[in-house]
Amino acid sequence: MSETMKGLKRTHRCAEVVTATIGAEVTVMGWVQRSRNKGGLIFTDLRDRSGLLQILFEEAICGREVFEKAGRMRSEFCIAVVGTLERRSAPNLQLATGAYEVHARELRILAEAETPPFPIEENSKTREELRLTYRFLDLRRPDLQRNIMTRSKIAAVTRRFMTENGFLEIETPTLIKSTPEGARDYLVPSRVHPGEMYALPQSPQLLKQLLMCSGYDRYFQLARCYRDEDLRADRQPEFTQIDMELSFVDVEDVIDVNQRLLSTLFREILGVEIPLPIPRMTWQDAMDHYGSDKPDLRFGMELHDVTELVRSCGFSVFTAAISGGGTVRGINAAGQGGMPRKKIDALVDFAKGYGAKGLAYLALQEDGSIKSSFSKFMTEAEIMGLTDALGGKPGDLLLFAADSIPVVRAVLGALRLELARQLGLLKKDDYRFVWVTEFPLLEWSEEEARFKAMHHPFTMPMEEDLDQIDSNPGAVRAKAYDIVLNGTEIGGGSVRIHQAEIQNKMFEVLGLTREVAEQRFGFLLEAFKYGVPPHAGLAYGLDRLVMLMVGADTIRDVIAFPKVKDASDLMMNAPDTVEPEQLEELALQVDQARVDTLSDGSAPKP
Ligand code: AMO
Ligand code: AMP
Repeated sequence: MSETMKGLKRTHRCAEVVTATIGAEVTVMGWVQRSRNKGGLIFTDLRDRSGLLQILFEEAICGREVFEKAGRMRSEFCIAVVGTLERRSAPNLQLATGAYEVHARELRILAEAETPPFPIEENSKTREELRLTYRFLDLRRPDLQRNIMTRSKIAAVTRRFMTENGFLEIETPTLIKSTPEGARDYLVPSRVHPGEMYALPQSPQLLKQLLMCSGYDRYFQLARCYRDEDLRADRQPEFTQIDMELSFVDVEDVIDVNQRLLSTLFREILGVEIPLPIPRMTWQDAMDHYGSDKPDLRFGMELHDVTELVRSCGFSVFTAAISGGGTVRGINAAGQGGMPRKKIDALVDFAKGYGAKGLAYLALQEDGSIKSSFSKFMTEAEIMGLTDALGGKPGDLLLFAADSIPVVRAVLGALRLELARQLGLLKKDDYRFVWVTEFPLLEWSEEEARFKAMHHPFTMPMEEDLDQIDSNPGAVRAKAYDIVLNGTEIGGGSVRIHQAEIQNKMFEVLGLTREVAEQRFGFLLEAFKYGVPPHAGLAYGLDRLVMLMVGADTIRDVIAFPKVKDASDLMMNAPDTVEPEQLEELALQVDQARVDTLSDGSAPKP
């Protein structure tokens, strides 16, 4: 039978005993990491969220009964120990508490434990599926505990900063109507209104804009958002945003408050000074030089356009792409000219994975000779031209892709990252921020044969581009900005449209009829009739920010109970079927034939 802690009160967490004086009586509680009996002495490592502490059981001090009880302890037993704090004769330098130990006088076994399905240890090698099934045990591991604790601290510093800067924390509902963020909605059937559905918010976008209409001026919230989209390492179906909206502001004001927030967070959490102002780059420059709207600036290897240099060369791969309206661009993998053919071939295959038809290379050897897949089709002057354009020196490897602009950007953008990974250029504690600005307002959807809003339909076009909105809508830039850290989009936002004429124009360009706009966000349009202030905002992916700050590889490692790739929760086994009565109450019926085709994977998901 397990014991209670009646009469005992914890005095310190394990790692906190260092603040007590030697010889003081301490009471600590936690889990047994391991316990070993060494000829009449039992050494136990006690663990709680603060760390490990060595407990010594010696029969002469604790008496026979406690000593025998200590002998029964196994890993993960939950225990309480009362004893005196002593200095250790042979300190363990690996441990924060390594200079101390507690000489136990009293022991209570608060709960016994079965042998866990995997060891509770740092940097677990256990496969993630098993860990997530037993997440409550996984969460005992010190690395996960540190992540979760840092996350809590980030949230606390954020709240303090926002409050000090005049923001009000306001909650918005999560049973709402569909919001236009571009992903699929999670729907919740209504019992009271049979046949009707709530949507879970993809973000509080419209609600925070309404709060501006209502005069709250500066709002923020740590908001839970839901998006039914394909999951990746940095995407979860439910995630948390640090969401904010400000009235009577323009781009500069939003950027100013946010770089101060980031600098405060990095200073207080990591002790890292971010040089301010954070550099800015237009979307166009990001795409041209890095092939991505979230450039990783920890290393160079920029893209260079060589289209004009090879327009009339003898290499048909290049000239064919150009005459088809495409482009030829290259990157310089400096110092990689000696890369073995096998490795280059692997890069070609990697590029093909991003849609390339091939990858042309020019390896500049240290002795001045070259190895290349295409030099035989070119004059010496053309080769020189290409080398100069990419700043190539003996020993460098130049890689070229020829295709449509989007394909070349995607291929070289990805290749640049892959090479940096292989070359060890991606240091996790090298924090390179950049604001990406002047996004296109619209992007063409081939699928739907119409323009879609790149950010959302309420984003303000840049004033200087407004005259092109009818003649050349694709060229109109938006007052939208993303904040990017080390190649990850950690946040994004925009100045919103607050003039009815521009909003109506926007709906028109998006092919939204008045009726549809009215039906979807009539409440917002209605609110805008009653004196809407100019406003702008931004939202961070909190999970992504925490992931980068703690150096985790996936946001699953900074979320207490995350979902796996297929959006299920392995621990709770959610989603799950429900009782027939529950469905009946909601006037719902499961189409079993459809379920069967969808779950055997033979039918494409709708
Ligand atoms: P956006 O859609 O860009 O903007 O989202 C803001 C930030 O949220 C994070 N994020 C995610 N994180 C984890 N899992 C996901 N599935 C996921 N999707 C997005 C990203 C992203 O930068 N309402 C606007 C903000 C605004 O305009 O104020 C919005 O939601 O880090
Ligand atoms: P091929 O003529 O297809 O044998 O290609 C000759 C060389 O050009 C090979 O090294 C290919 O990998 C490369 N190559 C083929 N297509 C492309 C392309 N679209 N862009 C860049 N290089 C390519």
